Amino acid sequence: MDGTTTATTGPETYNHIEVKPIAGTMGAELLGVDLAALDDATFDEVYKAWLRHQVVVFRDQDITPDQQLAFALRFGGIHHHPYMKGMDDHPDVLEIVKEPGDNYTFGSSWHTDQMFNPQPAKATMLYAKETPSAGGDTLFANMHDAYDALSDGMKDMLSDVKTWCVGDRFKRAGGLARNERYQGNLKMAAKVRDPGNLQTESAHPLFRTHPETGRMALFLGGHAQTLHGFEEAEVESLLNFLRAHSVRPEFTCRVNWKPGTLTLWDNRSVQHHAIADYNERRRMHRITIAGDTPV
Ligand code: SIN
Repeated sequence: MDGTTTATTGPETYNHIEVKPIAGTMGAELLGVDLAALDDATFDEVYKAWLRHQVVVFRDQDITPDQQLAFALRFGGIHHHPYMKGMDDHPDVLEIVKEPGDNYTFGSSWHTDQMFNPQPAKATMLYAKETPSAGGDTLFANMHDAYDALSDGMKDMLSDVKTWCVGDRFKRAGGLARNERYQGNLKMAAKVRDPGNLQTESAHPLFRTHPETGRMALFLGGHAQTLHGFEEAEVESLLNFLRAHSVRPEFTCRVNWKPGTLTLWDNRSVQHHAIADYNERRRMHRITIAGDTPV
């Protein structure tokens, strides 16, 4: 199917912003934007550039959590994480902090945000407050290019297949253990305002259609645990192939962070991976925007 709209194929002209691509496959820095004072005409161009480039980067921004939230709300409602708590004074904003000596790096595997939810996040907006002197970059992979590069045979075989996606905290625990952990985390998430977001397992089409551009995408990430209708050995081989294929270097771009960098990515067409290669403080403010049911 080629339902691609002019949002991604037509001429690219902007009057209020400058767009500087950062890689061949996708990703662009948007210049001339002050996120603290964004008029409607500039926002319209930002949105257009975001749909086209999938990952957009704004440098040297000086915004408060309220201003970040106001920017996020222009893209849609807020998607609340089922088991992570927002900041006390800004529950819609997650503060992601890694300290020197911490072994765990949030998001350090290929994934798309909240894919375990029936309506995974449309977009994620990450704003750097403190960054390591080197390292701590984020990688992104273009799931439109990954889909397009599959053979016709593979596209035909997998065209109607669904994946079963499970939240990270529940992947290793099956049956009762998984349920107990889930109940425990439900209590932890008592502050979450939208109970619909609490679901941590869901089925999704392996190939999805981007609801705004019509482009086909491989909808994959670390939360995808199995493929409906296949034997376990087949699933393992197929998922191993698809995972490696989807993040081929030529489908990726990379964002290096400085305090004041804000990056916004489209989870409907992008996987990402936070690189765990530093041992200094890194502090980010993260907001996810609500998405729809993938089809
Ligand atoms: C995430 O997975 O949302 C976090 C990415 C990052 O911290 O670079």
